Amino acid sequence: MTQAIIEKINKLKKERNACLLAHNYQPGEIQDIADFTGDSLELSRKASSCDADIIVFCGVLFMAETASILSPQKTVLLPDKDAGCPMADMITAAQLAELKQKYPDAVVVCYVNSPAEVKAISDYCCTSSNAVDVVNSIDADRQILFVPDKNLGQFTKEKTGRDIVLWPGYCPTHIFATAEDVKKIRTEHPDAVTLAHPECPGPVRACADEHLSTGQMLKFVKNSDKTEFIIATEIGIIHTLKKENPEKTFYPASEKFICPNMKKITLEKVLFALEDNKYVIKVPDDVAARARKALDRMVAILPKG
Ligand code: 13P
Ligand code: SF4
Repeated sequence: MTQAIIEKINKLKKERNACLLAHNYQPGEIQDIADFTGDSLELSRKASSCDADIIVFCGVLFMAETASILSPQKTVLLPDKDAGCPMADMITAAQLAELKQKYPDAVVVCYVNSPAEVKAISDYCCTSSNAVDVVNSIDADRQILFVPDKNLGQFTKEKTGRDIVLWPGYCPTHIFATAEDVKKIRTEHPDAVTLAHPECPGPVRACADEHLSTGQMLKFVKNSDKTEFIIATEIGIIHTLKKENPEKTFYPASEKFICPNMKKITLEKVLFALEDNKYVIKVPDDVAARARKALDRMVAILPKG
């Protein structure tokens, strides 16, 4: 049954010149059939550079919106229209406009996990892999408004020492593991290296050895001589970590580390997406044109060092 669905997906992908992009948190069977897997920045870059007519985005709404903004000529499909990101919904354009009025001279850096309308009134976008580089690229005397993730914002503030005003948004999945969970598992596996995503709250980040985006975690593990890792982020990434490093061992910081929205994408829904153009994500041209400026600035900043 599963194999039959995969064959139909592959046939339709070829016929329709479609490219399947999957985030590192997607269910394992979705990552396995994707043309490209990656973190938010890698997938944004791939969405602009691939020459497909259709992008099937296996991720959540803000990712599909970002692909549509960066590649307006492509049809972008999100296989489940309700796969949203609760953190992205923690700020609206009206709220950001009000904040900007309060800090009229500040530069707005907006995490890519945000609605298109919020990006449209931001100066820069960033992802977890380049927030520090983006902030460091801004004139040192400028104050920064960082929205919507207070945890990534705080992490960036600590790394850069900059004057950053935080918005109180957060990822409801990354609060599932507590510092006590991480400390306990570190005691059980004293030789393991702990990798935490910067969306984790401060007390969890403080227990970790490295703070990395999902794409950076995959690279770190591949290049490391260590053999045991505690992973403080969504457990979908463990599928690819195991696949790429069969000789290494991974312990989730918590079994509860699951993003229910990422798990809404199924093989059946990917097939329906390709069969019936479900669901087309199109950002209105005027919003897209303004949001593209902030996204282009993000894509253009290359990591330092
Ligand atoms: P990255 O894959 O860019 O690290 O982002 C994590 C995330 O929460 C995406 O929603
Ligand atoms: Fe949003 Fe968190 Fe899920 Fe990422 S893991 S899509 S930030 S809710």
